[in-house]
Amino acid sequence: MFDLAIAIAVLGATGAVPTAALDGLVVIGELTLDGGLRCVPGVLPMVMAAAARGVRHVVVPEPQAHEAAMVPGVEVLGMRSLAQVVAELRDEPVPEAAPVAAMSSSRLLAWRGAGRMDEVDLADLVGMEDTRFAVEVAAAGGHHLLLSGPKGSGKTSIAERIPGLLPDLTREEALELTAVHSLAGALEPGDGLRTRPPFASPHHDASTASLVGGGSGAVRPGEISRAHCGVLLLDEFPLFRADVINALRQPLESGDISVSRAQESVVLPARSIVVLAANPCPCGDYHADASVDRCKCREVQRRDYRRKVTGPITDRIDITRHLTAARPTARRDPLAVRESSAEVRERVTVARARQADRYADEAWRLNGHAPGPALATRWPLTPAAAALVDDQLWKGRLTRRGVTRVHRLAWTVADLAGVDQPGVTEAGVALRLRSGEPLLAATLRKAAG
Ligand SMILES: Nc1ncnc2c1ncn2[C@@H]1O[C@H](COP(=O)(O)OP(=O)(O)OP(=O)(O)O)[C@@H](O)[C@H]1O
Ligand SMILES: [Mg+2]
Repeated sequence: MFDLAIAIAVLGATGAVPTAALDGLVVIGELTLDGGLRCVPGVLPMVMAAAARGVRHVVVPEPQAHEAAMVPGVEVLGMRSLAQVVAELRDEPVPEAAPVAAMSSSRLLAWRGAGRMDEVDLADLVGMEDTRFAVEVAAAGGHHLLLSGPKGSGKTSIAERIPGLLPDLTREEALELTAVHSLAGALEPGDGLRTRPPFASPHHDASTASLVGGGSGAVRPGEISRAHCGVLLLDEFPLFRADVINALRQPLESGDISVSRAQESVVLPARSIVVLAANPCPCGDYHADASVDRCKCREVQRRDYRRKVTGPITDRIDITRHLTAARPTARRDPLAVRESSAEVRERVTVARARQADRYADEAWRLNGHAPGPALATRWPLTPAAAALVDDQLWKGRLTRRGVTRVHRLAWTVADLAGVDQPGVTEAGVALRLRSGEPLLAATLRKAAG
């Protein structure tokens, strides 16, 4: 990482390169034994950090020049060898050198290709009005979501479609997300800024390190950072290991993750919409309606399984939805709702603009990230709506944390409806979204326009 910088510093100290040329210069790269340069992970965040400190000139291995140049206001020199860098600094003719290989694949995380879900569309799914409304709210306000339902009820299908409901990333978000990819070694020469919200869906046997980041040696961002500004789906969530789930608690609240290694700890961005998907029982066939229940699990198995789906992690989830398998005939109904992702994205974008306006002077942009005390004092519900929510708290149906989450949801429901302050209607919808009760037909009719 610092090979080239150290070599240049030594040459500067011995007078082989003029020290004036090193003023305000940052050099990044490793050296091969014959003096060639080698690519390193994390060029983008390094150049971002350097630029933030006023550096205007950077030298990087040639294949990474494009990446470094994503940072505005920095002049980038892509070089192939130590001899080339020295000649450049001495203002002499630059010698020929063999091209630098792109990052070795052993350093690359297999992040390329996957992580984008723009090809799938909500229009592919029929029915599911209740869940459609819930994912629209999740997308608009940045709320976390738990989807439970039997096999084939569309949990995975609808979760995959959430990134497509989100607007393009802002320039700042795009730089942050691309920096994560850079650190992971998952940027290739010629890759541009990531401008679409990402999608990550780690397998349930994932390790804590692969999910939240870490590992020995260089810092490796985890899937939770890969999903920054997008969607992190934990499919078949009860099958994840308990320690992995627990590691998610902190980032779910704070939006970043601190990864500690032997000597230091590094904070990486990790603010996504987390979607947990779960079957109602281990076999996946349990149904509350006995006439269609085909579950073969024993009661004790079912209880164990359910305990995993209600613990501290689910208290941090905003929205719960119980899906039912659509009737096969409904799937062929040509008149069923088939609103497209683009149509929903338009409403989400408007609702997000309202939030950005309201929170213009704050450190957050979305209702889902607004701190509870700030909402309570500066953006309250109407008195009647607040009384409705408090009532649930007194009855023990809502925790304190739950009250804040309902408050945030009520704001998002209001922002989607173009209402200036959440009232009883919005709070009622928010309470249902939180508790898992089905939404009322009136709510869904209004949402559909
Ligand atoms: N509402 C729907 N409209 C159209 N197709 C649907 C709908 N729901 C489910 N499907 C289709 O049914 C299949 C199964 O859906 P999906 O994999 O999303 O279910 P799941 O709830 O994740 O199931 P599992 O518990 O087995 O993972 C998919 O091919 C999906 O396209
Ligand atoms: Mg599934």
